[in-house]
Amino acid sequence: MKKDFSKISFLSLFLLFSVAPQLIQARKNNSQMLTVKSTTFETNNTKMHRGINIGNALEAPNEGDWGVVIKDEYFKIIREAGFDTVRIPIRWSNHAGSVPPYKIDDNFFKRVDWVVNKSLEQGLITIINIHHYEEIMQKPEEHEDRFLALWKQISEHYRNYPDTLYFELLNEPNGALTSDIWNKFIEEAVSIIRETNPTRKIIIGPADWNSVYKLKELKVPEGDKNIIVTFHFYTPFEFTHQGAEWVSPSPPVGKKWIGNEAEQKQITDELDIAVRWATEHNNISLFMGEFGAYSKADMASRVRWTYFVAREAEKRNIAWAYWEFCSGFGAYDPVKNEWREDLLNALIPPPNKYYVSVDTEHGSILGSGWYNEGSYATIKISETSLGFLVQDVFDHFEGLGSRDIVIDARTVKVYVNGPRIIRAVWRKDYTMALLTTLGVGIILGVAILLYKIQRFSLLSVDFRNATLHSSLVLFSLHTFLRLGSLKLKQQR
Ligand code: GLC
Repeated sequence: MKKDFSKISFLSLFLLFSVAPQLIQARKNNSQMLTVKSTTFETNNTKMHRGINIGNALEAPNEGDWGVVIKDEYFKIIREAGFDTVRIPIRWSNHAGSVPPYKIDDNFFKRVDWVVNKSLEQGLITIINIHHYEEIMQKPEEHEDRFLALWKQISEHYRNYPDTLYFELLNEPNGALTSDIWNKFIEEAVSIIRETNPTRKIIIGPADWNSVYKLKELKVPEGDKNIIVTFHFYTPFEFTHQGAEWVSPSPPVGKKWIGNEAEQKQITDELDIAVRWATEHNNISLFMGEFGAYSKADMASRVRWTYFVAREAEKRNIAWAYWEFCSGFGAYDPVKNEWREDLLNALIPPPNKYYVSVDTEHGSILGSGWYNEGSYATIKISETSLGFLVQDVFDHFEGLGSRDIVIDARTVKVYVNGPRIIRAVWRKDYTMALLTTLGVGIILGVAILLYKIQRFSLLSVDFRNATLHSSLVLFSLHTFLRLGSLKLKQQR
C-alpha cells in the first residue's frame, strides 16, 4: 500500500517539475505578417482608379428603405477624400412598367439625373448600373425584353451626357442567368446602347456574382474598344461577410484577417486569375467594382484587408470601387458626418502616415491606428492572464524593434517609421492545473491509505478518525498549494 502511494506522489512531482516548465514555455507559432507598400498605377482604357459605391440607396426597393438617401454633399466629400470614381447601384426594375414598353417612371429618372449631375459636377467618373434585378436571375428569358428595354431608355436618356458617365450592364448575374444566356444578353444590350452612345464606356462582368472564376466563360463583344470588364472581390467570404444578415447561413462573427502568407496568397492568386485572363484578351481594362469587409469584422482586420486588396489591385493596374460609402460596410459615418479615418486611409493612404496594426488572441489591446511618421504609438494590452486552471498568460509583444520603448509589463511605445504590425503573444500556463491535480492525488492517496489502515485494523483508529485525519491533511495541502501558487505568481 505504502509503496503504491509513494509511486503516485513521485509521479505527480515528476510531472510537476519536468513537464510543467516545458508546457509553460509552449508558444504558439506566429504567422508571417504582411508588408505593405504604396504604389501608383495606370489603367489602359479608363481614367478610373479609386472609386466608391454609394450603395444601399437607389438599389433599395425605394431610396431610403435601406437607410441611405443620397445627399448633395456626398460627391464633394468623396472627391475631396481623393476618389475619382463613384458607382451608383440602381434598381430600375422597381421603377419601370412590367409590360411593354416597360416605361421607366419619369420621377425616378429625374431623381437619378439629379444624382448623376451632382456626381459629374464634382468631376467624378460616374457609373450607373442595373442592380438587384432579382427577377432576371430567376427567369432570364422572361425578362430579356424588359432588360433590353431598360437599356434602350437609359442609353437614349443619357446619350448627350459627358463621357465620364459609364454604363454597367447588370450587377452580379447569378442563378438561372448562366454564362451562355448572359453572353447573349450582353451582345444584345451593347448593340442597343451603341445605337445612341457609340463610344461610351460600357462595363460588363462575368456570371456567378461577377466571379473571377467565371471570366473564362465571359464573351466580350468583339472590336469594341470601350468595354471594361468588372469583377467583385469578397475573398475570403467568411471574413468579409461575417455576420451579414442577408447571407444564409451567415458566416460567424469573430474571424480576423491578419495578412499572413497564406491569406495574402489567397487574394493575389484570385487577382492574378483576372490579370491573366485580361492579358489573353487584349489587355482589356479591369475594374474591381466592389470589394469590402462588413462592419461586423474587427476594424484592424478590415483595415489590413482593405489596404492589402486595394494595393494589390493597383499593382496590377486594376481600378477599384470600395463597397460602400455610408452603410453597413461604410467608409463614411453618416451620423457623425465624417470619414472612418482608418478605412479611408486604407483606401487612400495619406502621405507620411502609417498604419500600426496591433492584435491579440485574448483580451483586448489598444493602439491600432494611423500615425504620423516619426511619432510613437502607445500599445497597451488590457489583461495579462485569463482563465483559472489552464491560464492564458501574456508573454511578450512580437514585432518590436530597437527604437521601441517598453513602458511596463503591458505597455509599449512603438516608433512609427513605416507600417508596423505588433502582436501580443500568449502562452498556456498549466501550473494551477498541475498543482490541483497533484493536490487531489495526494488527498485521495491519504484518504485511501487511512481507509485501508482502518479496515485492516493495523492501527486502533476508527474510520471517523481517519476521515478527520484526511481532512486535516487536505486542509494543510490546500494551504501549501495556495502559498505555492502565490509564490509562483510573484516570481512571474
Ligand atoms: C452586392 C449586393 C449588395 C451587397 C453587396 C455585399 O453588390 O448587390 O446588396 O450589399 O454585394 O454583399
